[in-house]
Amino acid sequence: MQIRPRLSALLLTVAACCSGAVAPTPTRVPAGGAVASAAPAATSVGLGILKAGGNATDAAVATALALAVVHPVAGNLGGGGFAVVRMGGEVAALDFRETAPAAARADMFLGADGRPVAEKSLVGPLAAGTPGSPVGLFELHRRFGRLPWRRVVTPAIHLALRGFKVNARLRAELEFGRELLSRFPETASVWLPHGRVPAEGTLIRLPRLGAALQAYAERGPQALTGGSAAAAIERTVKKYGGVLTAADLAGYRAVWRVPIRFPLAGWEVASMPLPSSGGIILGQTAGVLERLGWASLPADSVERDHLLVEAWRRAFADRVLLGDPATTRASEGDLLAAPWLDRRAAEVDRSRATASRDVASWQPAPRHELPQTTHLSVVDGAGNVVSLTTTLNGSFGCGVLVPRLQILLNNEMDDFAAAPGSPNLYGLVQGEANAVGRGKRMLSSMSPTVAWRGDDVIALGSPGGSRIPTATSQVLLAVVVDGQGLERAVAAPRLHHQWLPDEILAEPGALAAAGLDELRRRGHAIRSVDRLGEVHAVRRTAAGVLEAVADSRGPGSAATTQP
Ligand code: DON
Repeated sequence: MQIRPRLSALLLTVAACCSGAVAPTPTRVPAGGAVASAAPAATSVGLGILKAGGNATDAAVATALALAVVHPVAGNLGGGGFAVVRMGGEVAALDFRETAPAAARADMFLGADGRPVAEKSLVGPLAAGTPGSPVGLFELHRRFGRLPWRRVVTPAIHLALRGFKVNARLRAELEFGRELLSRFPETASVWLPHGRVPAEGTLIRLPRLGAALQAYAERGPQALTGGSAAAAIERTVKKYGGVLTAADLAGYRAVWRVPIRFPLAGWEVASMPLPSSGGIILGQTAGVLERLGWASLPADSVERDHLLVEAWRRAFADRVLLGDPATTRASEGDLLAAPWLDRRAAEVDRSRATASRDVASWQPAPRHELPQTTHLSVVDGAGNVVSLTTTLNGSFGCGVLVPRLQILLNNEMDDFAAAPGSPNLYGLVQGEANAVGRGKRMLSSMSPTVAWRGDDVIALGSPGGSRIPTATSQVLLAVVVDGQGLERAVAAPRLHHQWLPDEILAEPGALAAAGLDELRRRGHAIRSVDRLGEVHAVRRTAAGVLEAVADSRGPGSAATTQP
């Protein structure tokens, strides 16, 4: 595991420098709306689609495709993601998570000594899961979009063909990812022209990606996952020792899932179910805090911080049981059931930290004995919301670019437990349910979330691996429980705890000196970190006021159509 810190530095750029033929729904949408995403060019694409009469789904898909061009560190076609939407009152969750290729094996990331070799699950195409984004973004639009598919893809085609300028963020990310990118000549020739990180202001044109997007606009996902495109992906993967095949690509399916839903301070919240742990962690956190009377404690108090951390500690202890929903023994129903939340709340000592080693995960009752990421949020003039998180996992994924398509492949296989019990890129300790297995979806922490109370509606989410559900829950609690404005809630310094390692991570300013001392006295270990997550959120109030906030932790961009 010594390789982890170096690889983390290499791959976690986001954390470091920033982040079928059914007719589209014909509902008329009042013009306007708001978009928040990681890149100004992508946000303005989304806003343009809203102004052209597109709904929140049209704008979200167009923004995601623009990110696939201008935000290579994370925005993707070679990865996967999740979307939680509330469209016309319908609440739905789309799972377009990558899957393990058919040739994946439980021991594929272990060395001769039986221990995980991080390099294998992080660098090069063995680390790549079967991409889900081409099918997923198309499916999201098919079900909820209003504008023609081609119209939604066109702005990304223009960005790729006409070009876009390298901004400070992209330059910093390329600088940070340089070592990884330069390992693969095909990748370097595109993103490190002449072996150098392009200067700010350099015009980047991606003609092959533009052509691939054009084919996608004309023929749908088949243009990227079948025929000569699939053959090209398989060729590049094979060249560097990967196992992903054209058959894996052809067999990929996105899945509509039932969102995790829970009440919070008079609001309804919907978030992502398995194969993401995000919604379960958010739901457990809300349920335990409600039982502990968290809302009535003073804001910014040590009492609140202590209880929040104790709730997260327990939610992440249960995460160890989770994986692909097809093979997970602990169901969402078990982990969000009132008796279990009652018990978790009762276990919390209000004056002492519980050591993580003393927090046992949920157990089935005996009678049940059984064998780098980017988030965008959009709201339209009708109050429809889309919360969408996509990821390549580490920055620039596994580093390999398919030259014919100029698409970077993910390294999502690292989200599996290479050896159950040993930590992954995010230090997460995971269990058997998340062991590598052919066709399985690797467990995620991504938490695209929407919440509403009457006509007041918000959408939010974040990148940041294991920090995603904790960053998302803090902003949600601040807005929903404390009635804070979106901007203040997103800007507020954050904390994080994930059961193991047993420590609180704290951003500068998250804890006053007295609070720090008091938490230490209660038995918490505390470590400062620069930043936790990068939340992009939008809101449309019941009065029709639009808000869009890009987290100041990164150079994202937010805009509304209101003056
Ligand atoms: O699915 C997950 O939980 C991770 N692959 C997310 C990675 C991520 O957020 C990278 N950005 N910092």
